[in-house]
Amino acid sequence: EKGEYRHFMLKEIFEQPTVVAQTLGSYVRQENRSVALPQLDVDLGAIERVTIVACGTSYYAGLVAKYWFEQFARLPVDIDVASEFRYREPVLEPGGLALFISQSGETADTLAALRHCKENGQTIGAVVNVPTSTMAREADVLLPTHAGPEIGVASTKAFTCQLAVLAALAAHMAVKRGRLSRDQEQEIVDHLLETPACLNAALDRDDDIAAMAPLIAPARDVLYLGRGQDYPLAMEGALKLKEISYIHAEGYASGEMKHGPIALIDDNVPVIVIAPSGPLFEKTVSNMQEVSARGGKIVLISDAEGIAEAGEGCMATIQMPRVHPLIAPLVYAVPVQLLAYHVAVAKGTDVDQPRNLAKSVTVE
Ligand code: M6R
Repeated sequence: EKGEYRHFMLKEIFEQPTVVAQTLGSYVRQENRSVALPQLDVDLGAIERVTIVACGTSYYAGLVAKYWFEQFARLPVDIDVASEFRYREPVLEPGGLALFISQSGETADTLAALRHCKENGQTIGAVVNVPTSTMAREADVLLPTHAGPEIGVASTKAFTCQLAVLAALAAHMAVKRGRLSRDQEQEIVDHLLETPACLNAALDRDDDIAAMAPLIAPARDVLYLGRGQDYPLAMEGALKLKEISYIHAEGYASGEMKHGPIALIDDNVPVIVIAPSGPLFEKTVSNMQEVSARGGKIVLISDAEGIAEAGEGCMATIQMPRVHPLIAPLVYAVPVQLLAYHVAVAKGTDVDQPRNLAKSVTVE
């Protein structure tokens, strides 16, 4: 039931603090501030490399996780969309963990890739939201998300719960590989546990975002820019907007703008910049200047510090709480989802059942 909410998508966006907390609850131990994965009889310490395969929004969760596996666990990661993966003869050496990320656990391409990896001797991990799904049954290591049923075709709460599981998994593997001290592990757990409160702070921006949606709704094209682990979020933002508002949107790595996409910029093109303050912020500011100089209208999503530094001259800003980089992708997912939602509402589209799309894609 939608309850007080106009659409399932909005309800599911607002459920995120609760379901992310629920999910984290089964991956961290609060008493001793440690990461603890559920029912694990496989030794993940012996894993030498990780292959991640998924589709759509679940694929973007995997792209964010690639940064974490590399940064914390120093594990090499190969990642691909499931529809491409099997057909390019991927190199699958013994000792590899193949990780499949899927809300439904039934997506045909992802399932076929899972079976391919199984036949090729990989340990199969599955991050799935439907515990009775085929992928859940076929995995060696089941890593459930506890998002509850997701009804809206546009995936929202499943995405942030996937990120929560993947962050815990990356930290767990880092511990197993001796890459994180006990102190560092505790610090990571503390930051993960801050996520629900930060998601609530992000949700507090709902009215501001609804108010700016009419500025975006008339656009024909919208660009999203992000750097590092925020680059996948730029792609996720663009996918959300396309799916439910039918506006053409693309996500780019901020620094790639000048290698082509900048030719698209004129004063009809809103550019959504996802940029928490931090060491790389300066570089993003110069990318923003390139956009402004060509008349592009910027919406900056950042924290108070970032907005103080670069907010001037933007068409709009959306202020996020200041958060640790590890949880930034979870927190910044919220404004990106809300923006797509409110633009779609402004356009009067069928938000929960967008044209041409099905919740679960069970054909290849
Ligand atoms: O159930 P899955 O996570 O395997 O689904 C993957 C994609 O089909 C899904 O994320 C799709 O891209 C969503 N409609 C995105 O909002």
